[in-house]
Amino acid sequence: MTELVHADRAAETEATGRWWRDAVIYQVYVRSFADGNGDGIGDLLGVRSRLRYLADLGVDAIWLNPFYTSPMADFGYDVADYRDVDPIFGSLADAKALIDDAHRHGLRVIVDVVPNHTSDQHVWFQEALAAGPGTPARERYIFREGKGADGELPPNDWESVFGGPAWTRLPDGQWYLHLFAPEQPDLNWENPEVHAEFESILRFWLDLGVDGFRIDVSHGMVKAEGLPDVGHADQVKMIGTEVVPFFDQDGVHEIHRAWRRLLDSYPGMRIGVAEAWVPSLDRLANYVRPDEMHQAFNFHFLTTPWDAARFRKVIDESLASSGAVGAPATWVLSNHDVKRHVTRYGHGELGLRRARAAALLTLALPGSTYVYQGEELGLPEVLDLPEEYLTDPQRLRNPEDGRDGCRVPIPWADVEPHFGFSLPGIEETWLPMPASWGPLSVESQLRDPASTLSLYREALRIRRDLTSLGDESLTWLDSPAGTLAFTRGDGFAVTVNLTGEPVELPAPGRVLLASAGVEVAGGTVRLAPDSAVWWGRDDA
Ligand code: NOJ
Ligand code: CA
Repeated sequence: MTELVHADRAAETEATGRWWRDAVIYQVYVRSFADGNGDGIGDLLGVRSRLRYLADLGVDAIWLNPFYTSPMADFGYDVADYRDVDPIFGSLADAKALIDDAHRHGLRVIVDVVPNHTSDQHVWFQEALAAGPGTPARERYIFREGKGADGELPPNDWESVFGGPAWTRLPDGQWYLHLFAPEQPDLNWENPEVHAEFESILRFWLDLGVDGFRIDVSHGMVKAEGLPDVGHADQVKMIGTEVVPFFDQDGVHEIHRAWRRLLDSYPGMRIGVAEAWVPSLDRLANYVRPDEMHQAFNFHFLTTPWDAARFRKVIDESLASSGAVGAPATWVLSNHDVKRHVTRYGHGELGLRRARAAALLTLALPGSTYVYQGEELGLPEVLDLPEEYLTDPQRLRNPEDGRDGCRVPIPWADVEPHFGFSLPGIEETWLPMPASWGPLSVESQLRDPASTLSLYREALRIRRDLTSLGDESLTWLDSPAGTLAFTRGDGFAVTVNLTGEPVELPAPGRVLLASAGVEVAGGTVRLAPDSAVWWGRDDA
């Protein structure tokens, strides 16, 4: 029966081709996933060696963080050659082999594209430096004269997302814009050459067989006319609530439309997913209008604190805003830029309990979900990494705000010295792994039916088998304060207790899966604190 339902659904998805609408996509931070050649750094060979794990986990696709040639000032988000693989991660042949192998495992592959900025080592920027002011080579980036008597002040007051001014001055007197690190000069998207180059880059990877792109800083390529001042400091704090002149300008949508036309010209439903930190869910929905990208990460959901009313509100608003443009919602709890949600929700036992409940909540919602590597193991943020290892450009400028702690290598087995991440005999992984991570390893958790990994595997199996899931909407049920309850279609219900106390309510069916112990007696269920339950409904 289960097999049949699954086959029908596969046929249906194939027919409509809209696989991304309810896909579960696993984010692989290549540097920290698996080390295939034994230098302590994850690589493409390592990813290939773990495809079986990902297929067994039950995800539909993987998104690979940048693995292109890069001086690694921002761990690959500073690309020097968009058409080649950095030797740290392997070769172009490895990338091709990974894409083909993933397809053989039934996994689609999404790669990152970084169009807002290049590396300062990119040949274009090197040419721009050498060619000097007023030359066509400088027109590919955003060079300006400074203000003040001798041009000694930056052209405007913009701040870099990583902290400090967004402008750096060259010895020849001109300034160039970098919304991120100085090693990441912003491209000039008013220059047709930049458009043509990126269309060619997209074609290069589409021809190699990728199924889509995650578009880095997809809200940043176009800047407000005349590069006006913001008018005050602390601009990064505004990004989530206001439109600033360097982000979310209406002009970026023309680029997304052109890219959508390009994606649609390829067979096999290739997709684009927008990374857009924008002020509201309504503005986020602009990125997934029918002629733009297919998905946009829902960071409003990611940043919602552990509170039932807040979750219900963000879920309703997300479904309404994406629904209004006919797009699925795209849920995400963690990624390589934010503190892992186990830690955000309270760290330790409490954080893990909530993270397990959050997984069942998220995976039950209509739409697509991203899973960040290690969240299926319940990994916490590593907060005590030794100072000498910390090289994240964001931390260098903002010590409180480093991203290293969510990028620690994945523990695969309960063996010293590095839990199966690297080859035996290798002394060090690029970031050290906590000595306590053996029981959190994949191998340990596969043996334990109560582990977080087992919970994710079971949830993904049920999600695949239930035809009432997918991207159909949800119906809220009445439930006590501090809890959430909803149904999807006729056959499936979810209850979540976001309080620290047990809560009783009428059992909405029979238990399919629970994130913590669940007691049902006489039609009433007692929900454990900070827990979620999936229910099958016999009336279906
Ligand atoms: C977003 C990426 O996810 C992040 O890691 C990077 O530092 C910035 N964009 C700049 O490319
Ligand atoms: Ca390696």
